[in-house]
Amino acid sequence: MTVQPPLGMLVELTHRCPLQCGYCSNPLDLMKADRELATSQWQTAFVEAADLGVRQVHLSGGEPTLRRDLEALVSCLSDHGVYTNLITAAVTLTRDRIATLREAGLEHIQVSFQGARRETTELVGRYRGAHEKKRAVAAWAREAGLPLTINAPIHRLNIGEVPNFVALALELDAERLEIANVQYYGWAYLNRAHLLPDYDSVMRQVDYVERVREDLVGRLNIDFVTPDYYADYPKPCMGGWAADAFVLTPDGMMLPCHAAQTIAGLDFDRVTERPLREIWEISDSFNRFRDTEWMPEPCRSCARKDVDFGGCRCQAFAITGDAAATDPSCIHSPLHGALRQMPEPGEIRHRAITRAVEKI
Ligand code: SF4
Ligand code: FES
Repeated sequence: MTVQPPLGMLVELTHRCPLQCGYCSNPLDLMKADRELATSQWQTAFVEAADLGVRQVHLSGGEPTLRRDLEALVSCLSDHGVYTNLITAAVTLTRDRIATLREAGLEHIQVSFQGARRETTELVGRYRGAHEKKRAVAAWAREAGLPLTINAPIHRLNIGEVPNFVALALELDAERLEIANVQYYGWAYLNRAHLLPDYDSVMRQVDYVERVREDLVGRLNIDFVTPDYYADYPKPCMGGWAADAFVLTPDGMMLPCHAAQTIAGLDFDRVTERPLREIWEISDSFNRFRDTEWMPEPCRSCARKDVDFGGCRCQAFAITGDAAATDPSCIHSPLHGALRQMPEPGEIRHRAITRAVEKI
């Protein structure tokens, strides 16, 4: 098997975050600050990644702006020719910090909105004043000349606001709007009975997005991450396992996708303990689901196997207990019909570092 170099990486600099969204895709076992890599360790990893071929980085978390060394990290990446995108909840950013990040080489900013209305943003993120703060940050980013993406994670609590998200993105002079139906990993999987929208709302959303997307060509790019649980076929998760991108966790663990550590039986390496190139090219965990040789039936003889790569390994594991199984969002999976059977909702669990392991 020839292994191509990766083009992109998603770096979760920290799990700390001022918001407590119940749809978060971070693991339940959230790390405290003392487990995060030091500045020099991140810089070493970034140089190794650039040497391997990475050309684009998404700096994420948690909330990446809580790292006081963010400017130094952006500058290191930029010096090595890596395009930097900051994914932020924005409530901790100031006008000055945006300017210093821009000077350090930041090239794009993605601001998440938990709702298109103030009440929804505050309700979902559990942070008073968040909506106004995000709007201000979006304006400062544009003022600093940064291209802006508005990220709208969609679930039952805000699916009715999709047209308002479009209006908001236009008003804030965004270049792109990402309407991302929540992927059910981590906290989102735990809260799925609260978050999964009903079928009719999903269909209305799909019709609306398809229509408005065409109307706005040339004014606003709309990326649509479709809802897996109502699809006939899965998405090619991460473009295929270890195909062209990887994830680094706050403590330097290197993963083929953001939920990979939820798969029991796979061991992942840390970039502080093994060269990043070696992990990408020859580690067992990265090779386990690469390409299509590993696939059992029905994927093995399916015409779509090079289109969706059998879907998402993490979702397959979460629902079937077998990471090699066909993703249940596929119509050919024996579990497809059971996918939307939800557990009793109980109480929604808001993301919190100290509550993560002890309560669940
Ligand atoms: Fe994709 Fe496998 Fe379903 Fe075929 S059977 S569509 S390869 S998930
Ligand atoms: Fe891990 Fe989809 S999130 S393969």
